[in-house]
Amino acid sequence: MPEGNHHGNPNMSKEEQKARIQQEINIANNMSHIKHKIVVMSGKGGVGKSTVAANIAETFAKKGYKTGILDVDIHGPNIPKLFGKEGQVLGIEDNKILPVMSDDNVAIMSMGFLLDSQDTPIIWRGPQKTGVIRQFISDVKWGNLDVLIIDNPPGTGDEPLTVLQTIPEADAVVMVTTPNSLSQEDVLKCVTMAKKMNIKQIGLVENMAYFECPHCGEKINIFGKNQGENFAKLMDIDYLGDIPLTEEVSNAVDEDTITTVEDPKNPVSKEFKDIVEKIEDKFFKKDE
Ligand SMILES: Nc1ncnc2c1ncn2[C@@H]1O[C@H](COP(=O)(O)OP(=O)(O)O)[C@@H](O)[C@H]1O
Ligand SMILES: [Mg+2]
Ligand SMILES: [Zn+2]
Repeated sequence: MPEGNHHGNPNMSKEEQKARIQQEINIANNMSHIKHKIVVMSGKGGVGKSTVAANIAETFAKKGYKTGILDVDIHGPNIPKLFGKEGQVLGIEDNKILPVMSDDNVAIMSMGFLLDSQDTPIIWRGPQKTGVIRQFISDVKWGNLDVLIIDNPPGTGDEPLTVLQTIPEADAVVMVTTPNSLSQEDVLKCVTMAKKMNIKQIGLVENMAYFECPHCGEKINIFGKNQGENFAKLMDIDYLGDIPLTEEVSNAVDEDTITTVEDPKNPVSKEFKDIVEKIEDKFFKKDE
């Protein structure tokens, strides 16, 4: 980790150390009001990690969970756009940043909002990514949440490392992959990282797993059948389900809602419901 362990580093001044301890307290406080934390990761970019994270969050919200989503992709923050909330100005209350609320009441925090709004100097104290991500966790007024979904940039860099170090009590990591060997190879690195960080519960979602013929509805497995399931078995992690490649999912980015799960009859909506049920069954049962 670039800046020593979570207590800071030995070169810090007394003041800095004090601030660091205060931040630790804020993080513990904030996180104690969030029942479940799910970290979404992938080996590669473009596999649909943000799409899956947003749809899972929306599905939880639709089920009545108080839901939040934290987008720690500093360089490509896509979550605001996925919820139709780009360009929102962040509010401040009690010295804390207020998350932006989606139309279905998902609390959203993303680097995207900071890049858009000028008057939030509070966040810029730490120039490093690590500092900003820790502030997303310590200085945002998340309030009481049932579940927080954390969307990462691809790979095993500073962002997921900081998330896993700052929220060691995370319920689970959900890996997103497409059904091809290169994406899977990189997921393996993420699984190794999560295991090293002592995350016991790891799930796999296979995105763009198949294509449904618009004429006859036949499922066409472009890359071969049951790839995700077999891969999950191989890695000894939980297989959560697959999502087809559809025009709707792709178009959802340009619309103002998570349209895929808006319509309960939509097959993709059903897939996400199944995935969320598996997350509840496999990962939440311990304290419910
Ligand atoms: N199941 C899907 N069907 C069609 N398009 C998809 C699907 N999942 C993701 N996409 C599209 O692929 C692109 C990359 O998705 P994104 O969620 O941003 O990936 P990541 O966060 O992994 O980089 C986006 O344009 C998204 O709309
Ligand atoms: Mg993304
Ligand atoms: Zn057909």
